[in-house]
Amino acid sequence: MRMAKARIAVIGAGLMGHGIAQVFALAGHDVSIHDSVAANLDSAKARILANLKDLGDDPSAVERVQPTADLAAAVREADYVVEAVLEDLPLKQKLFAEIETHARPRTILASNTSVIPITKIMEGLRDRSRALGTHWWNPPYLVPLVEVIGTQWTSPAAIDWTMALHKAAGKMPVHVKKDVPGFVGNRLQHALWREAIALVELVGTDLTLAIHQTVLPDIENRRGPSPYLEALVANGKLGFKSGEGFRPWSADAQAALRAKVLQHLKKARIADG
Ligand SMILES: NC(=O)c1ccc[n+]([C@@H]2O[C@H](COP(=O)([O-])OP(=O)(O)OC[C@H]3O[C@@H](n4cnc5c(N)ncnc54)[C@H](O)[C@@H]3O)[C@@H](O)[C@H]2O)c1
Repeated sequence: MRMAKARIAVIGAGLMGHGIAQVFALAGHDVSIHDSVAANLDSAKARILANLKDLGDDPSAVERVQPTADLAAAVREADYVVEAVLEDLPLKQKLFAEIETHARPRTILASNTSVIPITKIMEGLRDRSRALGTHWWNPPYLVPLVEVIGTQWTSPAAIDWTMALHKAAGKMPVHVKKDVPGFVGNRLQHALWREAIALVELVGTDLTLAIHQTVLPDIENRRGPSPYLEALVANGKLGFKSGEGFRPWSADAQAALRAKVLQHLKKARIADG
């Protein structure tokens, strides 16, 4: 599928933002990328170039990426703006209000939020018909799925154009029609994850209780987060990134797992043609 060359603005040059910029640049689009933290912005092109080389993709694609510290300049000429800043509702609302003042009237505005309803992020905009969600997965240049989420206000034309944009860039966009927290992927994943946490809580002294509990018909149905999870976070055990979460992660184990996941995703990409 072919798509006319577009001007894309990516706001946030972190883990997701630089990868999303890479995918659109490789698809032939001109990409401006903005971040409020100079170090993150300054390193974006080097990170993209390293990824392109590692994947055997055309390294010259990085030349279509233009970093800018000025938000207005990043979005002013864009046909499409995608936001990938921190998962913080007030921050995203404030950012989109500002983007709306600088972007052209027909520019489509997308958020890469993981779980926040798009309705909440976009409800304050003057024109909500052009606002939607695009939920990518990490790493964006290897995982094909992108959830495209509309709200009650999103125009079908905005959804269609966004679906076509992502399809033409080699992604597998799916239209999520219900704007619920977590959309589809993260909603299912975290329901399962909560169950996994509940299982870990049972391991150890109360084995008998655990066995009894596995035969009970109901799955875990607590309304709030697990106290076990709360205690881990309170103690700084944040998982992979802090060296310990549900289990310890040595630097070697981290590097080995990262390499294994990348290897697996690369093979899957080759298998998918
Ligand atoms: N990490 C994942 O696996 C993943 C997957 C899908 C979606 N997401 C979502 O994507 C978004 C970004 O996640 P990430 O993992 O890339 O985070 P990250 O922390 O790696 O990157 C966020 C970037 O936003 C920048 N930023 C913060 N405030 C800003 C502002 N006001 N203006 C411009 N830039 C600003 C930060 O400097 C940082 O570079 C979040 O909403 C997250 O929930 C993450």
